[in-house]
Amino acid sequence: MKVIGIETSCDETAVALLECDATAPPVILHEEISSQIDLHKLYGGVVPELASREHLRNLPVLVDRVWKNCGVKPTDLGLIAVTQGPGLKGCLLMGLSFAKGLALQTGVPLVGVNHIEGHIVAPQLDSPELNFPYLALVVSGGHTEIVEVQQFGQYRIHARTIDDASGEAFDKSAHLLGFEYPGGPQLAGLADSCQASRFSLPRVMRNSDDFSFSGLKTAIGLLVKQASKMPEYSELRAELAWTIQESIVTTLLEKLRRVMEETDCRRVVVTGGVSANRRLRSAISSIEEAEIYYPNMNHCMDNGAMIAWAGWLRYYNGARLLPSAGVHSRWPVETITNMEQGTE
Ligand code: KG4
Ligand code: ZN
Repeated sequence: MKVIGIETSCDETAVALLECDATAPPVILHEEISSQIDLHKLYGGVVPELASREHLRNLPVLVDRVWKNCGVKPTDLGLIAVTQGPGLKGCLLMGLSFAKGLALQTGVPLVGVNHIEGHIVAPQLDSPELNFPYLALVVSGGHTEIVEVQQFGQYRIHARTIDDASGEAFDKSAHLLGFEYPGGPQLAGLADSCQASRFSLPRVMRNSDDFSFSGLKTAIGLLVKQASKMPEYSELRAELAWTIQESIVTTLLEKLRRVMEETDCRRVVVTGGVSANRRLRSAISSIEEAEIYYPNMNHCMDNGAMIAWAGWLRYYNGARLLPSAGVHSRWPVETITNMEQGTE
């Protein structure tokens, strides 16, 4: 069946059309994405009200492009999948209202998708041979967690950030180094131009089960302040970037290794925006006997295809969204139930 995926949880409006069925891997028919980075970078971060308005403006345009590119009409759909949470409330509401309108107009069933579950299954879009169980290291701008995926929908959290997410740590550090929002990829690019550094950072919360990046942010702030007084600061920025990247990557790697040992699970997926980081990929590929999967670059970041795929899996497992359903700005992935969505 044809499944449309609609994603509006933060600052990317994304839509995709997939062909999904129970006996074959998903086929991506078309993808559309509209990033709002240029708008939000004027303010140094995402402005929720502006983001919601952009989604409202962009969604009909992107969806129209899907119909035109694929020669498909709304009534050809078998399922509408929309991000229901977690994310910015106003942004989620734009996507959900649009999806409800489409469902009402066509009579096509609707499912609400957890954005993190979307990231968890995203690597299956590009690696059809990837089966459960696996460990998912979810590293994005809003989330950092290690999830044991026993089956689709059966999740055990082994580590989760208690404050900033790893993408946020990259972005806030990048801001300190003078990069525009979001800055994570630029910081990574500068770090990769360097082989070593004269700087070091304290190991924060090393013995804790969970992640914490806010202490690191404070330490980075102090380090950048000291370094910025040095006459050769502009040359030192690359070394600072290298140190920051190593520190974030090492924290992620140490916890992942520990969970792999505890669970005896060697199959790992690394997903979410930060999984595009080259240094993180090379560090994780050094783990002995690990079977590692990443989404393709365009599926690391927020995208509509992962929402369509997770939505189809939910639908196949019995989920349907009630017309009265609202959004969940907070929605831990281990608490999703099909019951909550209601029945048709
Ligand atoms: O998954 P995503 O597109 O959106 C959220 O759900 O948050 O992740 C975006 C995050 C941003 O913080 C961005 O700076 C970070 O992913 N990111 C990177 C890289 N590419 C994207 N961080 C470090 N290195 C990269 N190459
Ligand atoms: Zn995301």
